[in-house]
Amino acid sequence: MSHISSVDRSDSAGPTTTIDASHTVTYSDATQKCFAPESWASDSSDNTRVTKLPFFDLKTQFQSLREEILAEITAVCDAQAFVLGPKVESFEQQIAQLCGCDTAVAASSGTDAELLILMAMGVGPGDAVVTTPFTFFSTAGCVARVGAKPLFVDIDPATMNLDPEKLGKFFERECRESPDGLATKDGLIIRAVIPVHLFGLCCDMDGIRELCRQRRIPVIEDAAQALGAKYPSKNRVERAGGMSEFGFFSFYPTKNLGAFGDAGMAVARDGEFGRKLKILRNHGMDPRYYHSEIGGNFRMDAIQAAVLLRKLPYLEQWSKRRWEIAQRYKYAFAKFSRKIMLPAEPYAAQLGSEGHIYHQFVIRTPARDSLREHLEEQGIGTEIYYPVALHQQKCFAYLGEMKFPESERAAAECLALPIYPELTDQQIDRVTDSVAQFFN
Ligand SMILES: Cc1ncc(COP(=O)(O)O)c(C=O)c1O
Repeated sequence: MSHISSVDRSDSAGPTTTIDASHTVTYSDATQKCFAPESWASDSSDNTRVTKLPFFDLKTQFQSLREEILAEITAVCDAQAFVLGPKVESFEQQIAQLCGCDTAVAASSGTDAELLILMAMGVGPGDAVVTTPFTFFSTAGCVARVGAKPLFVDIDPATMNLDPEKLGKFFERECRESPDGLATKDGLIIRAVIPVHLFGLCCDMDGIRELCRQRRIPVIEDAAQALGAKYPSKNRVERAGGMSEFGFFSFYPTKNLGAFGDAGMAVARDGEFGRKLKILRNHGMDPRYYHSEIGGNFRMDAIQAAVLLRKLPYLEQWSKRRWEIAQRYKYAFAKFSRKIMLPAEPYAAQLGSEGHIYHQFVIRTPARDSLREHLEEQGIGTEIYYPVALHQQKCFAYLGEMKFPESERAAAECLALPIYPELTDQQIDRVTDSVAQFFN
């Protein structure tokens, strides 16, 4: 079935992979480890295979919270105060507290939160911002929208996050010191680095922060997928979004904490910068109808804040359940370690279940497309995050041709399986049985 010839990938850092003529790929290393309580005797007697198992299911969660959420929405309707206001402020305070930041500024989406940060930093033409090519489009799209150049550094294949080693090499080989800061060879000033905590796993922030600190480059964490995720830094346990100068989150409905529409949050270490974010969020208006800067309409609706506040107390237990589901998947797939690469949990020794919040459970296999087809036939929904690395997107063709082999491989091999707190053990078994059927 597979058209893949034998390939040796031992040239890459991290786990090595070898592919043979069937859909067998050998992934070495510890990425296949999982926590596996004895009590998980797999019950594969589920015979209800006619029902569809969707990739995500927002309805089940809503049903369990229906009354309390509708009461919150009704309260906003009764007040007829729909934009910003006390609910939004209260949500800002809770997020600032959760991630350990001075200021949180609620925004209309994660994209707008990133845009706000870049605008408040004054990033624009003549500037460059470094990020990963293996992320959702908006991470780099916002950089281009403010007139700066997105620059890419490849990922670590084990975690699929920005690789600090490659970032260091990029700084050393492709950049030089200038009076205005670190610059590219063609004179663009590197104004920021945006690591992305992809799928709910924090980047190697000690490495990234140290490289940036030495060069006085601010870090903006794209924590859109990682609200609440922990990271064991050298000195203490830190939280996604709160580990750098700036960070942002998305509350898109399918996120671990999802709104009833679009919503996002920008966070900053410096309170004064937070004030600037708030002014720019509202057209740069300060005081009312006086504009000394050009901002935009990036405000959060009160209904979104009310829903998110109601859901926030459940976030930890939901993320824990996602982690448990991930362990079940990993346990079931361990026997296919030559065919499937499983998500890494580099912080498991220090953080256990808190080292990954599994916004997505993404496996890698060269047989990705046929596996996806097989699962589709079984009624199991999957998704590809992301089929095209950003440097290969048409709209970035103007940046010139670039090669990021690890991101390109990840884009060709990755497949996200259903993972949401409401997934039942029977449904999990159905996914693992179907995957096993394919590889057997
Ligand atoms: C990594 C990443 N960055 C940024 C965003 C943008 O967030 P939003 O969809 O809320 O604009 C997303 C959304 O999915 C994302 O996954």
